[in-house]
Amino acid sequence: MNIALFGPPGAGKGTQAKELSKHYNIPHISTGDILRANVRDGTELGVKAKEYMDKGELVPDAVLIGLIRNRLTEADCKNGYLLDGYPRTIPQADALADILKEISKPLDAVINIEVSDEELVKRLSGRRSCACGESYHLMFNPPEKEGVCNACGAALYQRDDDKEEVIRQRLTVYNKKTKPLIDYYGNSGLLVNVDGTGSVDSVFVVVCRIMDQYK
Ligand code: AP5
Ligand code: MG
Ligand code: ZN
Repeated sequence: MNIALFGPPGAGKGTQAKELSKHYNIPHISTGDILRANVRDGTELGVKAKEYMDKGELVPDAVLIGLIRNRLTEADCKNGYLLDGYPRTIPQADALADILKEISKPLDAVINIEVSDEELVKRLSGRRSCACGESYHLMFNPPEKEGVCNACGAALYQRDDDKEEVIRQRLTVYNKKTKPLIDYYGNSGLLVNVDGTGSVDSVFVVVCRIMDQYK
């Protein structure tokens, strides 16, 4: 199945995608995670991307389009993929359509996780992340041992872009550049809206009900 998880920063894309990827055995492709891995490794891409990410801005389209093209043509996407955080602009969506046509893996659905701005700010400001890709929340989803990842035992950290001013900027950028994709995919009949305000488990059940249609 070929799915894109869509939604504003903090909607729960990463949290859901981790579980969905295990449940359906398809790769979780998070452009944010790929960029952060490059930042950590100090690659040329990482050095360039960090300037934008730290300010809450989008990394230029050309960079993302190249990155997603490489990733989607890897062998593990043979039976499907779960996109998280891509596309985020109309040019990215247009490029994606071209790539997916070339590899004959068109999208089945774009699942839009809806959460209010007030709740997004709470979720992002309390988030604690691990380099292994897990993320937690100080109140809503705390790790078993304070400051330590349940999955790998490493120390948790706060993302540089989870500081209040950067969160606000990310939401502004989302509204301006990414939200127009709701109409874009709505018009093409691919969009499915999901209320993202329930618990992690209840949102998972609703998303599975949608994805089961494409098994
Ligand atoms: P990216 O890493 O994609 O960040 P984002 O879209 O801002 O989204 P987040 O990862 O912050 O939120 P999420 O929806 O995954 O929420 P999560 O599950 O963690 O991108 C970062 C940056 O990289 C961008 O700003 C940009 O610079 C660059 N970038 C990436 N992709 C790009 C692209 N395509 N083009 C250009 N630039 C790009 O959950 C959040 C918190 O809430 C957690 O603490 C979690 O525990 C908690 N939580 C989750 N679900 C629930 C629930 N149901 N109830 C209560 N708490 C919950
Ligand atoms: Mg994420
Ligand atoms: Zn970890």
